[in-house]
Amino acid sequence: MASSLPSSLPLAPSLAPERVNIALGERSYPIVIGAGLLGDAATYAQLPGAATALIVSNTTVAPLYAAQLQLALQARYPRVLLLQLPDGEAHKDWAHLQLIFDALLAHGCDRKTVLFALGGGVVGDMCGFAAASYMRGVPFVQVPTTLLAQVDSSVGGKTAINHPLGKNMIGAFYQPQLVVCDLDVLATLPERELSAGLAEVIKYGPIADLAFLDWIEAALPALLARDPQALSHAVKRSCEIKAHVVGQDEREAGLRAILNFGHTFGHAIEAGMGYGQWLHGEAVGCGMVMAAELSQRLGLIDAALAARLKRLVQAAGLPVQGPRLAEDNAGRYLELMRLDKKSEAGEIKFVLIDPPGSAAVRAAPNALVRQVIDACCAQA
Ligand code: NAD
Ligand code: GLY
Repeated sequence: MASSLPSSLPLAPSLAPERVNIALGERSYPIVIGAGLLGDAATYAQLPGAATALIVSNTTVAPLYAAQLQLALQARYPRVLLLQLPDGEAHKDWAHLQLIFDALLAHGCDRKTVLFALGGGVVGDMCGFAAASYMRGVPFVQVPTTLLAQVDSSVGGKTAINHPLGKNMIGAFYQPQLVVCDLDVLATLPERELSAGLAEVIKYGPIADLAFLDWIEAALPALLARDPQALSHAVKRSCEIKAHVVGQDEREAGLRAILNFGHTFGHAIEAGMGYGQWLHGEAVGCGMVMAAELSQRLGLIDAALAARLKRLVQAAGLPVQGPRLAEDNAGRYLELMRLDKKSEAGEIKFVLIDPPGSAAVRAAPNALVRQVIDACCAQA
């Protein structure tokens, strides 16, 4: 792995806010990326006015950042309410979604009320779904506080909750008005969560931008050390790639599915282990290793690229060996993967690297998928 940063990383640190636009006609919105944004009233100056803003957060993030956000929003909204959900993927369900509707109704919130999702992907997905459905839709803003949420989940309008039989099975496409990626909040992120976020950063390289893959390899020590300049570039480039894909295929008629690289195997790991055992990013990291192995066995990439990706995932602090889910391990993976949203008439679809730097979505022979699972998972 290269030890010095390539020239694509700006030499002089500049943390002036960066801006990436999601171009979706009347549903277009900016992503702002920088330091000190969350608590700055100016960040929110262009948002629609309303009598009430509701911040939806959780019991971990709210004590850290809700007060600054509340203060900033008070410059624009006469009433700023805060709801703290319990923390964790295990609570991304109907019962806890209902708590958001309970709060909105109990406080007499009208259809102009603006919701602010302050937290990681769990809070963002739930708050977004609540915003999509409360009074048939109210404005919402994403204030992502994990790296994973800044580079992926807060952008592009996918909102959802889990069902015990499948991940993110109930939800809506619903775009936010604004995404605020304040890099300062990443300082308090546990190391394991930082690594989980790096999985979604790494994802963009093999499927969309090999130069970015080179950059991530070189910048990995800086990213793990939370160097603000490196984080800023990682968030910005990830958002640019996601914006480009979402701008062409908002509702995943085709192209957008490539952003699911590693997720077919990954979602099986998450559901098979029980939500919250493996972090989403950990499952995606390991899932990318499995998807690369499948791409290689299908002759789409060479062994060197699959090995390179595995080394990078491991160096980012992520697991590269899949867990055993059952005695008939491959059978259980296949059963879970059939529930994936990309499946059609029970046929599992995989995002494959094809060719390096781009991706294709297609089925693979079951026998080959079984071989990949056997090769990539812990043995009995
Ligand atoms: P998460 O929301 O559970 O956050 C991870 C942990 O970090 C939580 O304990 C949280 O409380 C804590 N945390 C958050 N910000 C913190 C901070 N700044 N300092 C300290 N602790 C902090 O997990 P995640 O990885 O952000 O998101 C995963 C979820 O996102 C999954 O449910 C996944 O399905 C979803 N997702 C959605 C999309 C999408 O397009 N909508 C894309 C990818 C992932
Ligand atoms: N995270 C995949 C997508 O937004 O489509």
